[in-house]
Amino acid sequence: MDQASFITQNKERFLQELFELLRIPSISADPKFAGDTRRCAEAVADALRAAGADNVVLEETAGNPIVYGEKIIDPALPTVLVYGHYDVQPSVPDELWDSPPFEPTIRNEKIYARGSCDDKGQMFMHVKALETMLQTGTLTCNAKFMIEGEEEVGSSNLGDYCRANRAKLSADVILISDTAMIANDTPSLDVGLRGLCYVEVEVTGPNIDLHSGVYGGAVANPINVLSTMIASLHDENRHITIPGFYDDVETVSDEDRKAMSAIPFDENEYKKQLNIDAVMGEKGYTTIERTGIRPTLDVNGIWGGYTGEGAKTVLPSRANAKISMRLVPNQSSAKITELFTRHFESIAPAGVRVKVTPHHGGEPVVTPTSSIAYQAAAAAMRDTFGKDPIPTRGGGSIPIVALFEKELGTKTVLMGFGLDTDAIHSPNEHYGLFNYYKGIETIPHFYRHFARLHQ
Ligand code: BES
Ligand code: MN
Ligand code: MN
Repeated sequence: MDQASFITQNKERFLQELFELLRIPSISADPKFAGDTRRCAEAVADALRAAGADNVVLEETAGNPIVYGEKIIDPALPTVLVYGHYDVQPSVPDELWDSPPFEPTIRNEKIYARGSCDDKGQMFMHVKALETMLQTGTLTCNAKFMIEGEEEVGSSNLGDYCRANRAKLSADVILISDTAMIANDTPSLDVGLRGLCYVEVEVTGPNIDLHSGVYGGAVANPINVLSTMIASLHDENRHITIPGFYDDVETVSDEDRKAMSAIPFDENEYKKQLNIDAVMGEKGYTTIERTGIRPTLDVNGIWGGYTGEGAKTVLPSRANAKISMRLVPNQSSAKITELFTRHFESIAPAGVRVKVTPHHGGEPVVTPTSSIAYQAAAAAMRDTFGKDPIPTRGGGSIPIVALFEKELGTKTVLMGFGLDTDAIHSPNEHYGLFNYYKGIETIPHFYRHFARLHQ
């Protein structure tokens, strides 16, 4: 049987099997879900075995296990290492979902569930593609799978695992579906990802919450102070004011910027989707450039003082915020953490104390379009979409990609099938049935072209 017929005949089962995974709340950020997360790892391992992978194991780490499996058919053939993640972001606030986050539901040809796109749906396409290739006798490369359970919390144990298993993980390419394409009729391949520097800040004033009438006006209010400090991190051109922040930023050539401006993008549609009347960002750059080639700074959460029912007059003792910075090529997450910390401490007025605590970070990546791996992915998409994919820069981060290159010396291809509008990390995350099946269909073409070009 050919691949297309096999996929068509097993369509419904492929969907039900994904649903099984989506029903497991494998939320890595919340220790309450540690048991479910492990159960999800076991389900992924079972799925790999059922698809025909050998030597499937749960690799224990200091955190959630990594699922490893492989199908080595001939050491002379090239090897594809598939990376994905089975952990998901928290689903809260659950009341904003139109159907429960861990009860996958189909509406308007889309699978609604936490993790449907990021990344269970996209990761599972690779498992079903492997099954398809094995069942149709068309596997042309060795395949290795490394599916982790801590991507959404910084992959802190994956580096050690890679260092300790260099030989086992040796491959000619790392293939990842965990990014988006431009549109269902406009395929694209990410050739870059931004890095990440994530910090938490705390501003402390008086030793206890005070009466805001008795003390207000005479004592530094940490929330007022923190707001002012945060506001000062951008100037009127939405440039980041941290000294040295842009020093290492790669200058993108006019030619590359021209190519970016040719990427289909409808700003009105974008605004409509988000229900905003204007976009906002760094002066002198387009929206695509602002998310693709420029670094940013965003407050992800801010808290302090009284936020309960009604009004309580209080001058809080403390204010906190979580701040992320997205980084672009040549910036270093460690250096930016240092620059941020030094600057943030320096702008604190007398009367408060400031503490900066770094969280996980990650380095930016760019991958060449000239590689065999990119060419194979482009050819695969051409086969199934009937069009050449457009190279784009993803705004998100997969910190482990830079690490793979460093620790394993292996380059990555980012062949994602999601859409920016899939609401990953948000309520009502979804993944198109079109995208799920298109991925399963396209992946075997990648293996075929990669084997062909590799000779
Ligand atoms: N799959 C995303 C990254 C992504 C999404 C890249 C869309 C490009 C386009 C990944 O799961 C993710 O969310 N990464 C985190 C970083 C991590 C350290 C928490 C991110 O980008 O915030
Ligand atoms: Mn992801
Ligand atoms: Mn994610």
